[in-house]
Parts: sequence; C-alpha cells; structure tokens
Amino acid sequence: MTTVPLLARTREELSSALSEARSQGRTVAFVPTMGALHEGHASLVRIARERATDGVVVVSVFVNPLQFGEGEDLDRYPRTLPEDLELCAREGVDVVFAPGVEDVYPGGEPEVTVAPGELATVLEGRTRPGHFAGVLTVVAKLFGLVRPDVAVFGQKDYQQLALIRRMALDLNMAVEIVGAETCREDDGLAMSSRNRYLDEEQRREAASLNLTLRAAQEGATYGVDVALDAARAIQRGTNGVDLDYLEITDPDLKPLPDPVPEGTEGRILIAAWLGQTRLIDNLPIVFGTPPEARTPAPPDREADPQNPTTPDRDGDS
Ligand code: PAF
Repeated sequence: MTTVPLLARTREELSSALSEARSQGRTVAFVPTMGALHEGHASLVRIARERATDGVVVVSVFVNPLQFGEGEDLDRYPRTLPEDLELCAREGVDVVFAPGVEDVYPGGEPEVTVAPGELATVLEGRTRPGHFAGVLTVVAKLFGLVRPDVAVFGQKDYQQLALIRRMALDLNMAVEIVGAETCREDDGLAMSSRNRYLDEEQRREAASLNLTLRAAQEGATYGVDVALDAARAIQRGTNGVDLDYLEITDPDLKPLPDPVPEGTEGRILIAAWLGQTRLIDNLPIVFGTPPEARTPAPPDREADPQNPTTPDRDGDS
C-alpha cells in the first residue's frame, strides 16, 4: 500500500494532523526515529500498524542534538528526509513529524531534563555520559507532543529500550512501550543508520560483531568465562575493530548471579569502533550445563529427543 503521509513540520501542524483521530478516540501508534530510515525502521512501522489497525501511525524524524556528546557525529549524522518520506509512504505511515530544533526545544537548551538514573551509567552510558539524559528528555517531549497509546523501539538499542520502559513506569506515562526484534543484513550485521559511514573493508569487518555475540551464545553452555573467551577469540581475529565493551548481564542489564544457575537468561552486549564509526549490538544468552556434567539418562529409558536437558537458546533478538 502506498499512501502519501501527512508531513508535519511544526507542533501546530502535528496537533491538527492528529486532532480528528484524537476526537474519534482512535489508537495512535508512534515510532520515534532520527531519520536515515532503513528496513529496520520499516519493521518498527509494521508493528506500529498492527497495534493501530484502525488508528494512526506517526513516525518522527528528528536528529536530537541533546543526545550527542562533544566530538560525536551530530553534524555528519545522515539527514535524508525525502527518502525517509518515500519509505514512510511505502509502509503506509499516516503522519511524519519532522520538526525543527526550535519546535522541540522552544526555550533553547532545556533547564529541566529527565535524569535516567543508575542504569544510564553502565555500558553505553560509561562511554557516552549524558547520552541517555538527552534520549529520555527528547522521548518524553515527543510523547508529550504526539500523546501515543503505543510506542515502538528497536532492541538493537537494548539499554535505551530498558531506560524508556523505566521512564514510562517511573513517570506514569500512559503509553505502552513495545520492543521490536533487531533486523539484520545477510551476514548478521544489525541494521543501523550509521552502517552507511562504513567503507568496504569496515563493512566486511563489521559482521564480526554479530559473530562475536553468537560465539558467546554457543560458549554459554560451559558458563560465563567460556562464553566471554569464545567471544574474545572472534574479536582477536578481526582487523580494525576497536572493542569498547563486551559484557554479559542479566536481561535487565544488572550483574548475573554468582554462580550462574543452569537455565539462567542473560544478555550479551557489544560496542566497537570501526574507524570513526561506533556500532552496537546485543543478543539474548542462556546458560546451560556442559554435556559432561549432565546426569545420564536412567539405563531403562532412552533419551527423548523431544525433551532435551539443555534449555532452548533464544533465537536472534
Ligand atoms: O533510537 C533513536 O533513533 C533515538 O535515540 C530516539 C529514540 C529517536 C531519540 O532521539
């Protein structure tokens, strides 16, 4: 289906674009983005549409200065509104909200911002101080303007998703937060607007991020140390990939229990530089029991292939 989405450039235009839907009580499903849209964003839009079959799907396109630190890629971040509108048309988006900085921050740099708390000090937050305060502040402002019933975010930015969920809970925001699976290229690289910065050699090497995570998933049968060793072995074989962090946490990004009981679920997360480009990725991980430590089946009963002792590993996020 191709529909021409309504383009709202100001908060007033957004408000009039949504007024009819609001007065009719129709569902508003929202996909916040910074533009440079790709198939990963398209998949978020499809989820938004499923949640608002008779409602309105809104996509925002706004490169938020508040979430970029000094020396980061704010100036060179790709701005591709005409192509973004084409993707939104193909995906049947109803309204594209592409405001200017002065519409989102009418009072200039905000004095009141959202404090993201402890969870924002680890992983991404350690390397990018202030980043999550900028993300949560703009998401809160966009929620205030769009007033969505549902908002969809990708799991590639797993820590961001966790913090947005926490913000919605702690600040009593009446919006359901939906996390969507990561879309990947054929070689496993997580789709990202920043992939377009990579040259040919870097693009080839970038596939190692996902290989690293998958090696850890395999090694997790033998525990955390083996999982991390397997992942680091892949990283050592790369060329021009400068690791920022490689960490395993519980699904809420807290430390794993010690020791880790069989069947414990966790998350493995990676960030690495390829030249000037910083990429992130993550996968679910489940800790199992090594075959040699498993209790053998009783002699009078054959092993049941339908009922393996090791837990199923989650697929891709
Ligand atoms: O994930 C993003 O694209 C951004 O961090 C978001 C959520 C749109 C806020 O600027």
